[in-house]
Amino acid sequence: MSPAESLRGAAVPDLSVSIAGVRFKNPVIAASGTFGYGREYRGIIDVSRLGGICTKGLTLHPRRGNSGRRLHETPSGLLNSIGLENPGIPGFIEGELPALRELGPVVIANLSGSAIDEYAGGAALLAASSVDMIELNISCPNVRAGGMAFGLDPETAAAVVRRVRHRAENKPLMVKLSPNAPDLIGVARSCVNAGADALSLVNTFKAMAIDIRARKPVFQNISAGLSGPAVRPIALRMVWELREAVQVPLVGMGGIAESGDALEFLLAGAEAVQVGSATFAHPPAMIEIIEGIESYMKEYGFTVPGEIAIRKRRDC
Ligand SMILES: Cc1cc2nc3c(=O)[nH]c(=O)nc-3n(C[C@H](O)[C@H](O)[C@H](O)COP(=O)(O)O)c2cc1C
Repeated sequence: MSPAESLRGAAVPDLSVSIAGVRFKNPVIAASGTFGYGREYRGIIDVSRLGGICTKGLTLHPRRGNSGRRLHETPSGLLNSIGLENPGIPGFIEGELPALRELGPVVIANLSGSAIDEYAGGAALLAASSVDMIELNISCPNVRAGGMAFGLDPETAAAVVRRVRHRAENKPLMVKLSPNAPDLIGVARSCVNAGADALSLVNTFKAMAIDIRARKPVFQNISAGLSGPAVRPIALRMVWELREAVQVPLVGMGGIAESGDALEFLLAGAEAVQVGSATFAHPPAMIEIIEGIESYMKEYGFTVPGEIAIRKRRDC
């Protein structure tokens, strides 16, 4: 009998994970930009069962987002060009945060910006708020200024992380990486050296579509961000490679639609996962993923999610 077989059915798994000192009741988090501020899904799924909720990308001042087409489906994927539509951080803190807190899951504010000063100003406001964690978005491909540009180069990324770290010393800081960075490992290492407590990856892949009848690109910005199952094997490979390169917790995402997908990321060494596009197609996806992870842990006799990994942090 294998060790897994001898343990089968014996353990009651504890799905909770701790990332940068924050305890999540399970390792499944709603990805930024795909779950609004949580309240939108009340009455559709039991939102309180999620490990965490990442807000839509928040900027210091309100933004209307991009005009023209914003979403376009591709085979096994989704292109989006939302452009960081949000009520601004003061508007979020006053108008959305109290209800979001009530829902129960860990609250992660996705901090976005077009300039380092804007990131720093937003970080200071979030530091004084009740959010549990900041996810610093240096990887949005859908804004003309800033956004992904900060996440493509190790030194620029470090400069933003340092400023935000300084302005929000009291908040755990996770930095969201761009799969479009030519040297992802270099960017990841410099974010960690600049003070990131954790890294999340990946944001969307820069991509495009052309309307053959209109004979022009579908999106006004020409390019958009690709997510969904089409990107999953690439995102997984990136998590696998980063697990060896850095020693902070990783939160993996990109095309996770069912528990087997999430388990691949946990096996690759991610401490937790985020689920985005799948929720649009199938709102209960995250609940089913939580249940699937629990069944897998029972089947293999794992007591905590950290035991699932075949690639671990060196200090674990
Ligand atoms: C419609 C849409 C809006 C998004 N908005 C944001 C955002 O505001 N900030 C951010 O960091 N990521 C944003 N993302 C990226 C997702 O959080 C996630 O990184 C990406 O979609 C990959 O995960 P998925 O394949 O599970 O969707 C958005 C994705 C989609 C599809």
